[in-house]
Amino acid sequence: MSKSNDTGHVAAAGSGGDTESQSSQSRRPVGEPSLAPEAGFHPGGPTKIAIVGVGLVGSTFAYTLLLSGVAAEIILIDANKERAEGEAMDLNHAVPFAHPTKICAGDYSDCAGATLTVIAAGTNQKPGETRLDLVKRNAAIFGQIVPQVARANPEGIIVVATNPVDVLTYVTIELAGLPANRVFGSGTILDTARFRYMLSEHLGVDPRSVHAYIIGEHGDSEVPVWSLANVAGMRLPSFCAENGIRLGPDDMDRIFRQTRDAAYEIITRKGATYFAVAAGLMRLTEAILRDQNTVLSISSLVHDYYGIDDVCLSLPTVVGRRGIERVLRLDLSPHEARGVRKSAEVLRETIASLNLSRG
Ligand SMILES: NC(=O)c1ccc[n+]([C@@H]2O[C@H](COP(=O)([O-])OP(=O)(O)OC[C@H]3O[C@@H](n4cnc5c(N)ncnc54)[C@H](O)[C@@H]3O)[C@@H](O)[C@H]2O)c1
Repeated sequence: MSKSNDTGHVAAAGSGGDTESQSSQSRRPVGEPSLAPEAGFHPGGPTKIAIVGVGLVGSTFAYTLLLSGVAAEIILIDANKERAEGEAMDLNHAVPFAHPTKICAGDYSDCAGATLTVIAAGTNQKPGETRLDLVKRNAAIFGQIVPQVARANPEGIIVVATNPVDVLTYVTIELAGLPANRVFGSGTILDTARFRYMLSEHLGVDPRSVHAYIIGEHGDSEVPVWSLANVAGMRLPSFCAENGIRLGPDDMDRIFRQTRDAAYEIITRKGATYFAVAAGLMRLTEAILRDQNTVLSISSLVHDYYGIDDVCLSLPTVVGRRGIERVLRLDLSPHEARGVRKSAEVLRETIASLNLSRG
């Protein structure tokens, strides 16, 4: 994994956070940043976020960002410029109920100075189209998007949300030419959240108190790490024995199936999923802007892990201001290790079918 040589912004982000000098800081009141331009104050400095693709996922993420107040400036970019403008107008009208935030439709040059650019642009599977056809189409779309983002913002972080997210993260690393710690995918942050939610329902505790991860592909070959799942440091067999909860193989199978197949179930009912992924992207953004060193199961370029090499998949990863700080190389059970190797094979085959030339 290549290491970033960027210096990174280390000032506190979020409401009022920026990298301006001490003297200009002293000219501004403490609290929410002013929207009025002030000499030396760059509201779009460390808390500017660009979103490419403002369909359901991108626009819901923008809304979540606005309500959170962590971003000072949000740029919306879409091939459908009118859509981006409409979303910007609608979101701006929520500002009086939320936080001072500058939101506008823009183009790729506006990615300059963004701490991160989230890419949620893509097309959906057409009737009769194979998954691989879709991968090729979205990879071609990324061929238009990624070089422009990287050119406009060579110091920024790129986060991929478009599916298949692991393959497109690999494609983005190839196209962007940025250090690998600054290019990653949302990976299994959503699957991990679903897993923790399903487990919390079964165990009768807050999902935030359930520590359990889905690793590997964001998709059918993903792997639940049962062997390390715990509540309060108690592995699940002890926790369940202590609390009189049954957790047999059939329960585990059901919980995992509900996790893995959740997207299909939601899409059958409402056509798309976007709230939970937007909340996950928001959590990832906050971890970066506030340099929180949060552990999140994002997709990154993995080398030399249980025989896996040169493929993007998800592992618990420490995320902070520089992007990926560390990837945590879990000690897996033999069954889980076989699962993640299988996941890597599936992804490798898809990547190979794209015939990318390694730069
Ligand atoms: N990673 C996850 O956990 C997760 C979860 C849900 C959805 N997704 C994925 O997110 C992606 C977006 O989903 P959605 O529901 O928002 O789709 P959508 O169709 O609502 O939005 C896609 C947007 O991309 C734009 N677009 C297409 N080509 C473009 C280009 N060349 N440049 C700029 N913009 C372009 C479209 O105009 C559209 O506004 C899909 O690939 C979906 O599978 C990922």
